[in-house]
Amino acid sequence: MTTAQPPEKPRLRTTIAGARVADLADTYGTPLYVYDAEMIRQRCRDLAAWDTVRFAQKACSNLAVLSLVRSEGVMVDAVSAGEIHRAMAAGYPAHDANQPGPDGLPPVHPIVYTADIFDRDSLDAVVKHGLHVNCGSADMIEQLAERLPGASITLRVNPGFGHGHSQKTNTGGEGSKHGIWHEDIPDVLRRAEWSGLQVSGLHMHIGSGTDLAHLAEVAEALERVAIEVGRSLTTISAGGGLPVPYKPGEVHADLSGYFTLWDAARKRLEDRFGHRLRLEIEPGRYLTAESGFLITEVRAVKRQGSRKYLLVDAGFNTLARPVLYGSYHPMSLCPKDAVEVVEDVAIGGPLCESGDIFTQIDGGFVATRPLPMAAVGDLLVIEIAGAYGFVMASNYNSKPLPAEVLVDGEKHRLVRARQTPDDLIRGERV
Ligand code: LLP
Repeated sequence: MTTAQPPEKPRLRTTIAGARVADLADTYGTPLYVYDAEMIRQRCRDLAAWDTVRFAQKACSNLAVLSLVRSEGVMVDAVSAGEIHRAMAAGYPAHDANQPGPDGLPPVHPIVYTADIFDRDSLDAVVKHGLHVNCGSADMIEQLAERLPGASITLRVNPGFGHGHSQKTNTGGEGSKHGIWHEDIPDVLRRAEWSGLQVSGLHMHIGSGTDLAHLAEVAEALERVAIEVGRSLTTISAGGGLPVPYKPGEVHADLSGYFTLWDAARKRLEDRFGHRLRLEIEPGRYLTAESGFLITEVRAVKRQGSRKYLLVDAGFNTLARPVLYGSYHPMSLCPKDAVEVVEDVAIGGPLCESGDIFTQIDGGFVATRPLPMAAVGDLLVIEIAGAYGFVMASNYNSKPLPAEVLVDGEKHRLVRARQTPDDLIRGERV
């Protein structure tokens, strides 16, 4: 991904995947998450070279999205009992087809539970459905062995280095709680053996929103650990982390070069072990980020000294990435009337908190964007919001979670209703 950044062009947008932004807002209200089904299908197909694409559903776990990726042959990762429940509600079977594929590859696990702990609910769900587990801490081994004797497991290994778009999304090295430390592998293999579990998979995920230079180092690190684990391995996983272009001037990564690198590592291991290895990739962001749009309505336009602010009806309760990581999202205006004038504006939400700004940079400093001049009632579309958007939304300030809509060809449909005031107080007692 290049980082050269040409000056940003002010943007206008009247449609999303062929549907009129104004119609979507009129029909479903705002703030509104909208996903482009065809874009998600395309992103799944981009990764067809891999034996298994496993969607890290934490990026966007709406049932309609899960069902869509499932129909593209994509498997799923779950990090909680809730995500296991979602996967099954979207039609993923709990159990593997027990036969190896016609290509001689070992059977695939439709759902894999990946985490650094079992909370009690997730352990119960894994046991109930007999799911495959990717263990990020050695303590999970004995906890699983006690409840599912003889199970096969994957080890998630922290290779001692990591990289993400933010320090908060770096999942490798000593600064990260994730994965089993690479130097502990011999000890962990002994623990697995004593517990009667088979280590059939190896997995590394060094961070989210990283770049291919860093990801390329993972194949080499995984190959070294795979040799230590030996012939019991039937699956290796490159984890997730594939970047998407958010900023002007950024471009898509060279996915075929990345696959070639992993495929070569896989083939060397197959030669060494004398049997086939399933090669998995586990993207979240890559499959859904670009498909997602957050439609908001401009509710106030004001000046604070020399700076102009647009205040919209979505805040960090709706999209948390800017306040959490200083993340950049492209934005465009869908005005009621034609506009000629362009101006630099800061864009914020409705929350009673100064950090409720979409145009902030790392450190919380307020920045501005060039946008066509907006008026109250215009719609502002926040783009590339389909990964870690809705799923990280909250009820802060007692704001209801927004609705979600899927646009597929000529049609659009509600795939999650907006929360109601009663939803906000459900379960509370005076
Ligand atoms: N596999 C594992 C074990 C993970 O922990 C993650 C992300 C993924 C795969 C998918 O990573 P991706 O392909 O999406 O980069 N909230 C942050 C991202 C947190 C990612 C957490 N784990 C953000 O908004 O950027």
